[in-house]
Amino acid sequence: MTTASAPGKIILFGEHAVVYGRPAIAVPVRQVRAQAAVEDLPGESPGRIRLEAPDIGRSLWLPQAGSDDPLARAVRLVLEALGMRDPRPVRVRVTSSIPVASGLGSGAAVTVAIVRALSAHWEHPLPDETVSELAYEVEKIHHGTPSGIDNTVIVHQRPVYFQRGRPIQSLTVAQPLHLVIAISDQPSPTAVAVARVREHWESDPQAAEADFDAIGRLVDQARRALEEGPAARLGPLMDENHALLARMGVSTPALDRLVDAARCAGAYGAKLSGGGLGGNIIAACDPSRAEAIERALLEAGATQTITTQVNP
Ligand code: MEV
Repeated sequence: MTTASAPGKIILFGEHAVVYGRPAIAVPVRQVRAQAAVEDLPGESPGRIRLEAPDIGRSLWLPQAGSDDPLARAVRLVLEALGMRDPRPVRVRVTSSIPVASGLGSGAAVTVAIVRALSAHWEHPLPDETVSELAYEVEKIHHGTPSGIDNTVIVHQRPVYFQRGRPIQSLTVAQPLHLVIAISDQPSPTAVAVARVREHWESDPQAAEADFDAIGRLVDQARRALEEGPAARLGPLMDENHALLARMGVSTPALDRLVDAARCAGAYGAKLSGGGLGGNIIAACDPSRAEAIERALLEAGATQTITTQVNP
């Protein structure tokens, strides 16, 4: 059996504006992971591939899956990339502890795990760049114009400063950054959120571009704050980024409530993270406040909290 796994991710700063060419910062979340396990199916004919995702009750043969099925697309892209038609028959079993549709990159992590496990199992492990490209192709199923930040941070598993079309830059934090992530009770429909921002841009391109520029400036200030410390400097920048995202129409009363609860419980700052309209919020804090912030978030309606740390 061959296994591979990939972490979740959060966007620290710059979501949505990153689709329009501005920079963004994302970090892996190692506390949650997607895993793919591949094993041979002796007795089956060459080319037979069984897909199993017990967490979501799926079990099917590859040809039964439509072209917009993300699991099947991942497998077909691996076959294409390796130039294989009738490979050794296998079962691909996917499991994940990453909450689905929560802005934590579950889709991209599942793809990365599948691509790595399958290509390794067939003795042609694909390099990171190719894994990332294939994951980007699958991301297009979720929304048509992905920036590429999710697949990039999940493949490289380290903090990234990302700008579309430019080589990725890694980023080293001066001191540990403690984050509390709260998952709201609404899923994040990334495609709808991206379309909402597109409408904002189409109805008033000048205002939208000004918002994207303002977010881009925050990202650069955040990068300096991360690289120089102290982490508390990030708080006001997160608050401003959240306000801009709210103005673009991708926050909700439930997300605003979580952000307020984190701030009242002593976070340096807080913001929604990822596509929005549901999904998660993140709060940066001193580690001594993390527990109180988690409690406040659960009281304010979070279904789950995850604490994570970005280390120097
Ligand atoms: C989703 O994690 C982040 C968005 O900026 C979309 C993207 O970058 O493709 C909302």
